[in-house]
Amino acid sequence: MFESLRFKKKLEKSEIQARLDLVCKIITNLVDSELRGLNYFQVGFVKNIDVRDSGQIEVSTDIPTPLHEIREHVEDRIRSALVREGIRLKDIKISTDKDANLFRPAKRSGGNANSSITNIIAFSSGKGGVGKSSLTGLTAAYLSRAGARVGILDADIYGPSVPRIFGLEGQLRSMEKDGKSWILPIEKDGLKFVSVGSMVPKDSAIVWRGPMLHKLLTQFSSDVDWGDLDYLLIDLPPGTGDVALSLAQLFPITGSVVVTSPQAASVEDVRKEVVMWKQLNVPILGIVENFVDFECDSCGEKTKLFGSGGGQFLAQRFDLEFLMGIPMLPAIQKSLDLGNPYELIKNKTGLAYSLIREFSNKISKISAGLIAENRDPKEFITLESN
Ligand SMILES: Nc1ncnc2c1ncn2[C@@H]1O[C@H](COP(=O)(O)OP(=O)(O)OP(=O)(O)O)[C@@H](O)[C@H]1O
Ligand SMILES: [Mg+2]
Repeated sequence: MFESLRFKKKLEKSEIQARLDLVCKIITNLVDSELRGLNYFQVGFVKNIDVRDSGQIEVSTDIPTPLHEIREHVEDRIRSALVREGIRLKDIKISTDKDANLFRPAKRSGGNANSSITNIIAFSSGKGGVGKSSLTGLTAAYLSRAGARVGILDADIYGPSVPRIFGLEGQLRSMEKDGKSWILPIEKDGLKFVSVGSMVPKDSAIVWRGPMLHKLLTQFSSDVDWGDLDYLLIDLPPGTGDVALSLAQLFPITGSVVVTSPQAASVEDVRKEVVMWKQLNVPILGIVENFVDFECDSCGEKTKLFGSGGGQFLAQRFDLEFLMGIPMLPAIQKSLDLGNPYELIKNKTGLAYSLIREFSNKISKISAGLIAENRDPKEFITLESN
């Protein structure tokens, strides 16, 4: 089909146009099931296509994530599809506007003039104890190690567990700037943290009345000096209560990751939560099923302690992405309960690491898709030929 791409002469205008049309058709056919079945034009990952009279094809992408793995995956798919259709590899140039990716004019959280945050991702579940805080912590550790600027907002104001998971010491501090008092996040190993657990003495019971709760979350949205972040991960308390409602009002949440465990009781609670996010108009990035099975240390037998299929059932029922299942792994439990999720990420080996890496990449890609799709239409694709 593409013998004519062995260019010896300059291409005619009509040939350039034909090639441009073909490249567009190939990329239009590249739908991505993780991006709600949209193609890379629709989602805004391909910004520009340029066919030169030498035959050189230039595709410029703009994938709003600092994670190389995601950008490389999308670009490899485009490159392979073009080559499959007969275009020579050496005639394909895929470029990324790196500055655009890393320093995109970001959403500002709740009128917060000191913070510029690109992705705001909530981790939630209608049910307690299913691994929300664990997955928030491990994802943050992975994203940070992969080069992203990451903050964690522990919005579990009744039972904050982020300080324990990361072994945080000390209290939140504040600073006066421009006539306003700013909350300074606690910084540790490149991550930034804000947690109620770092505001009140350890072991003290925390009781919040409705208006106080909303006031506190308002402060978290408008008075925290996060600086520039690629990701703000929010760890929610269990249930479908006031916290989620306030957060959805106060933060421009990109999407929520819904965590469930396989058993029917959890599925029932999570079903209510899915409905809540839909009512609040917060996109759901997908459903992750934690504790899918447990592998016996001595005999290697896998047991489905909590039944199976809850997450997949919910995903199908509500037409949502089923992100993945995560087994019960001693490595996960140890790294969290010892207050050091970096240990698991740092070693870059083992099942737990590869699952967290896959999970983090998936939600980052879906989130990047939502951001790219909703950005200023002026930035959308332009086609050029010369
Ligand atoms: N995949 C896993 N394998 C092994 N242990 C896990 C896994 N996921 C979570 N855990 C452990 O399960 C316990 C509960 O997890 P976690 O605190 O993250 O749940 P949660 O949903 O945030 O709970 P809560 O509703 O109380 O906020 C923790 O001790 C954690 O270490
Ligand atoms: Mg928790």
